[in-house]
Amino acid sequence: MFITPALWLAAGALGVAGVSLGVDPVRSLVHENGTMALRMLVATLAITPLRQLTGHSDLLRLRRMLGLFAFFYALLHLSSWVVFDQGMDLQMILSEVVKRPYLLVGLSAVLLMLPLALTSTTAAQRWLKRRWTQLHRLTYVIAVLAVWHFWWQVKKDLREPIAYAVIVAVLLGWRVWKRPRAAKARSAPATTQGTA
Ligand code: HEM
Repeated sequence: MFITPALWLAAGALGVAGVSLGVDPVRSLVHENGTMALRMLVATLAITPLRQLTGHSDLLRLRRMLGLFAFFYALLHLSSWVVFDQGMDLQMILSEVVKRPYLLVGLSAVLLMLPLALTSTTAAQRWLKRRWTQLHRLTYVIAVLAVWHFWWQVKKDLREPIAYAVIVAVLLGWRVWKRPRAAKARSAPATTQGTA
Protein backbone atom coordinates (compact mmCIF):
# COMPACT_ATOMS: atom_id res chain seq x y z
CA MET A 1 0.00 0.00 0.00
CA PHE A 2 2.71 2.52 1.04
CA ILE A 3 4.81 1.54 -1.98
CA THR A 4 2.05 2.56 -4.46
CA PRO A 5 3.11 6.25 -4.78
CA ALA A 6 6.71 5.15 -5.48
CA LEU A 7 5.51 2.73 -8.19
CA TRP A 8 3.33 5.44 -9.71
CA LEU A 9 6.28 7.87 -9.73
CA ALA A 10 8.57 5.23 -11.24
CA ALA A 11 5.99 4.60 -13.99
CA GLY A 12 5.80 8.36 -14.60
CA ALA A 13 9.59 8.73 -14.71
CA LEU A 14 9.87 5.85 -17.18
CA GLY A 15 6.83 7.02 -19.16
CA VAL A 16 5.04 3.67 -18.87
CA ALA A 17 1.44 2.62 -18.04
CA GLY A 18 0.16 5.97 -19.31
CA VAL A 19 1.43 7.82 -16.23
CA SER A 20 2.66 11.38 -16.75
CA LEU A 21 4.49 13.55 -14.23
CA GLY A 22 3.34 16.76 -15.90
CA VAL A 23 5.31 19.58 -17.49
CA ASP A 24 8.11 19.49 -14.92
CA PRO A 25 8.71 15.80 -14.09
CA VAL A 26 11.81 16.48 -11.95
CA ARG A 27 9.91 18.96 -9.80
CA SER A 28 7.05 16.47 -9.49
CA LEU A 29 9.46 13.74 -8.38
CA VAL A 30 11.11 15.95 -5.76
CA HIS A 31 7.73 17.27 -4.59
CA GLU A 32 5.89 13.92 -4.37
CA ASN A 33 8.73 12.03 -2.70
CA GLY A 34 9.37 14.86 -0.21
CA THR A 35 5.69 15.07 0.65
CA MET A 36 5.45 11.30 1.11
CA ALA A 37 8.55 11.29 3.36
CA LEU A 38 7.03 13.98 5.56
CA ARG A 39 3.64 12.24 5.73
CA MET A 40 5.26 8.93 6.68
CA LEU A 41 7.33 10.67 9.35
CA VAL A 42 4.23 12.29 10.86
CA ALA A 43 2.35 8.96 10.68
CA THR A 44 5.27 7.28 12.51
CA LEU A 45 5.03 9.88 15.30
CA ALA A 46 1.26 9.36 15.53
CA ILE A 47 1.55 5.64 16.36
CA THR A 48 2.53 6.01 20.05
CA PRO A 49 -0.39 8.33 20.94
CA LEU A 50 -2.72 6.06 18.94
CA ARG A 51 -1.47 2.99 20.78
CA GLN A 52 -1.85 4.72 24.14
CA LEU A 53 -5.39 5.80 23.26
CA THR A 54 -6.56 2.48 21.79
CA GLY A 55 -4.38 -0.07 23.63
CA HIS A 56 -3.52 -1.83 20.34
CA SER A 57 0.09 -2.91 20.85
CA ASP A 58 0.32 -4.44 17.33
CA LEU A 59 0.46 -0.83 16.06
CA LEU A 60 4.17 -0.99 16.96
CA ARG A 61 4.84 -3.20 13.93
CA LEU A 62 3.18 -0.57 11.76
CA ARG A 63 5.41 2.10 13.34
CA ARG A 64 8.54 0.29 12.18
CA MET A 65 7.18 -0.04 8.65
CA LEU A 66 6.12 3.61 8.50
CA GLY A 67 9.53 4.73 9.75
CA LEU A 68 11.30 2.67 7.10
CA PHE A 69 8.99 4.05 4.40
CA ALA A 70 9.74 7.60 5.62
CA PHE A 71 13.44 6.84 5.11
CA PHE A 72 12.76 5.22 1.73
CA TYR A 73 10.83 8.27 0.44
CA ALA A 74 13.42 10.67 1.90
CA LEU A 75 16.12 8.77 -0.03
CA LEU A 76 14.02 8.91 -3.22
CA HIS A 77 13.46 12.63 -2.65
CA LEU A 78 17.18 13.25 -2.14
CA SER A 79 18.25 11.07 -5.07
CA SER A 80 15.67 12.61 -7.46
CA TRP A 81 17.24 15.98 -6.68
CA VAL A 82 20.85 14.73 -6.86
CA VAL A 83 20.40 12.71 -10.07
CA PHE A 84 17.78 14.57 -12.13
CA ASP A 85 18.04 18.15 -10.88
CA GLN A 86 21.77 18.40 -10.21
CA GLY A 87 22.98 15.80 -12.73
CA MET A 88 25.13 14.22 -9.97
CA ASP A 89 27.55 17.15 -10.26
CA LEU A 90 29.18 17.11 -6.80
CA GLN A 91 30.55 20.63 -7.08
CA MET A 92 27.15 22.02 -8.04
CA ILE A 93 25.46 20.04 -5.25
CA LEU A 94 27.89 21.41 -2.67
CA SER A 95 27.48 25.00 -3.85
CA GLU A 96 23.66 24.59 -3.79
CA VAL A 97 23.76 23.22 -0.24
CA VAL A 98 25.93 26.15 0.88
CA LYS A 99 23.71 28.68 -0.95
CA ARG A 100 20.39 27.23 0.27
CA PRO A 101 20.64 26.28 3.97
CA TYR A 102 17.22 24.54 3.93
CA LEU A 103 19.01 21.79 1.96
CA LEU A 104 21.47 21.36 4.82
CA VAL A 105 18.55 21.04 7.23
CA GLY A 106 16.97 18.35 4.99
CA LEU A 107 20.31 16.59 4.64
CA SER A 108 20.76 16.51 8.43
CA ALA A 109 17.31 14.90 8.74
CA VAL A 110 18.20 12.16 6.22
CA LEU A 111 21.57 11.49 7.86
CA LEU A 112 19.92 11.17 11.27
CA MET A 113 17.44 8.69 9.80
CA LEU A 114 20.25 6.35 8.75
CA PRO A 115 21.16 4.92 12.21
CA LEU A 116 17.46 4.51 12.96
CA ALA A 117 16.87 2.52 9.77
CA LEU A 118 19.97 0.38 10.47
CA THR A 119 18.78 -0.43 14.00
CA SER A 120 15.13 -0.98 13.12
CA THR A 121 15.35 -4.77 13.49
CA THR A 122 14.11 -6.71 16.53
CA ALA A 123 17.66 -8.08 16.98
CA ALA A 124 19.08 -4.53 17.21
CA GLN A 125 16.29 -3.58 19.61
CA ARG A 126 17.16 -6.54 21.89
CA TRP A 127 20.88 -5.85 21.67
CA LEU A 128 20.69 -2.10 22.39
CA LYS A 129 17.95 -2.40 25.06
CA ARG A 130 17.39 1.03 26.71
CA ARG A 131 19.86 2.67 24.36
CA TRP A 132 17.58 1.67 21.46
CA THR A 133 14.74 3.76 22.90
CA GLN A 134 17.11 6.66 23.52
CA LEU A 135 18.52 6.43 19.98
CA HIS A 136 15.08 6.25 18.39
CA ARG A 137 14.05 9.46 20.17
CA LEU A 138 16.04 11.06 17.34
CA THR A 139 12.76 10.72 15.41
CA TYR A 140 11.57 13.85 17.25
CA VAL A 141 14.60 15.84 16.06
CA ILE A 142 14.18 14.46 12.53
CA ALA A 143 10.50 15.49 12.43
CA VAL A 144 11.37 19.03 13.56
CA LEU A 145 14.17 19.27 10.96
CA ALA A 146 11.86 17.95 8.22
CA VAL A 147 9.15 20.53 8.98
CA TRP A 148 11.78 23.25 9.24
CA HIS A 149 13.23 22.21 5.84
CA PHE A 150 9.76 22.22 4.29
CA TRP A 151 8.83 25.58 5.83
CA TRP A 152 12.10 27.24 4.79
CA GLN A 153 11.82 26.33 1.11
CA VAL A 154 8.21 27.56 0.73
CA LYS A 155 8.12 30.88 -1.09
CA LYS A 156 4.62 32.23 -0.42
CA ASP A 157 1.78 30.12 0.93
CA LEU A 158 2.80 28.94 4.40
CA ARG A 159 -0.47 27.15 5.19
CA GLU A 160 0.84 23.62 4.50
CA PRO A 161 4.07 23.89 6.53
CA ILE A 162 2.11 25.55 9.34
CA ALA A 163 -0.32 22.61 9.33
CA TYR A 164 2.57 20.12 9.55
CA ALA A 165 4.24 22.18 12.28
CA VAL A 166 1.02 22.16 14.34
CA ILE A 167 0.56 18.39 13.89
CA VAL A 168 4.19 17.66 14.87
CA ALA A 169 3.89 20.06 17.86
CA VAL A 170 0.72 18.24 19.03
CA LEU A 171 2.35 14.80 18.62
CA LEU A 172 5.48 15.86 20.52
CA GLY A 173 3.43 17.79 23.09
CA TRP A 174 1.42 14.62 23.75
CA ARG A 175 4.64 12.84 24.78
CA VAL A 176 5.70 15.66 27.10
CA TRP A 177 2.24 15.63 28.69
CA LYS A 178 2.15 11.83 29.00
CA ARG A 179 5.67 11.39 30.40
CA PRO A 180 5.09 12.26 34.10
CA ARG A 181 1.89 10.17 34.04
CA ALA A 182 3.70 7.16 32.58
CA ALA A 183 6.49 7.48 35.18
CA LYS A 184 3.89 7.69 37.96
CA ALA A 185 2.08 4.60 36.62
CA ARG A 186 5.40 2.68 36.53
CA SER A 187 6.23 3.55 40.14
CA ALA A 188 2.69 2.83 41.40
CA PRO A 189 3.01 -0.99 41.80
CA ALA A 190 6.30 -0.55 43.70
CA THR A 191 4.62 1.88 46.08
CA THR A 192 1.69 -0.49 46.54
CA GLN A 193 4.12 -3.35 47.18
CA GLY A 194 6.01 -1.27 49.71
CA THR A 195 2.93 -0.39 51.68
CA ALA A 196 1.41 -3.87 51.53
C1 HEM B 1 13.62 13.75 5.99
C2 HEM B 1 14.13 14.44 5.01
C3 HEM B 1 13.32 15.32 4.08
C4 HEM B 1 11.99 15.56 4.03
C5 HEM B 1 10.88 14.97 4.90
C6 HEM B 1 11.76 16.52 2.96
C7 HEM B 1 10.54 17.03 2.60
C8 HEM B 1 10.33 17.98 1.66
C9 HEM B 1 9.06 18.55 1.31
C10 HEM B 1 7.74 18.18 1.95
C11 HEM B 1 9.26 19.46 0.34
C12 HEM B 1 8.22 20.33 -0.34
C13 HEM B 1 7.80 19.71 -1.63
C14 HEM B 1 7.05 20.69 -2.47
O1 HEM B 1 6.04 21.21 -1.99
O2 HEM B 1 7.44 20.91 -3.63
C15 HEM B 1 10.67 19.48 0.03
C16 HEM B 1 11.25 20.25 -0.94
C17 HEM B 1 12.53 20.11 -1.36
N1 HEM B 1 13.49 19.35 -0.75
FE1 HEM B 1 13.25 18.10 0.81
N2 HEM B 1 12.97 16.82 2.39
C18 HEM B 1 13.95 16.12 3.03
C19 HEM B 1 15.29 16.12 2.75
C20 HEM B 1 15.85 16.74 1.66
C21 HEM B 1 17.22 16.64 1.23
C22 HEM B 1 18.30 15.80 1.93
C23 HEM B 1 17.36 17.41 0.11
C24 HEM B 1 18.59 17.64 -0.71
C25 HEM B 1 19.77 17.82 -0.21
C26 HEM B 1 16.08 18.00 -0.19
C27 HEM B 1 15.81 18.82 -1.25
C28 HEM B 1 14.64 19.46 -1.51
C29 HEM B 1 14.39 20.34 -2.63
C30 HEM B 1 15.39 20.72 -3.71
C31 HEM B 1 13.07 20.74 -2.53
C32 HEM B 1 12.30 21.65 -3.51
C33 HEM B 1 12.57 23.05 -3.26
C34 HEM B 1 11.93 23.94 -4.33
O3 HEM B 1 10.98 23.51 -5.00
O4 HEM B 1 12.43 25.06 -4.47
N3 HEM B 1 15.19 17.57 0.77
N4 HEM B 1 11.31 18.57 0.87
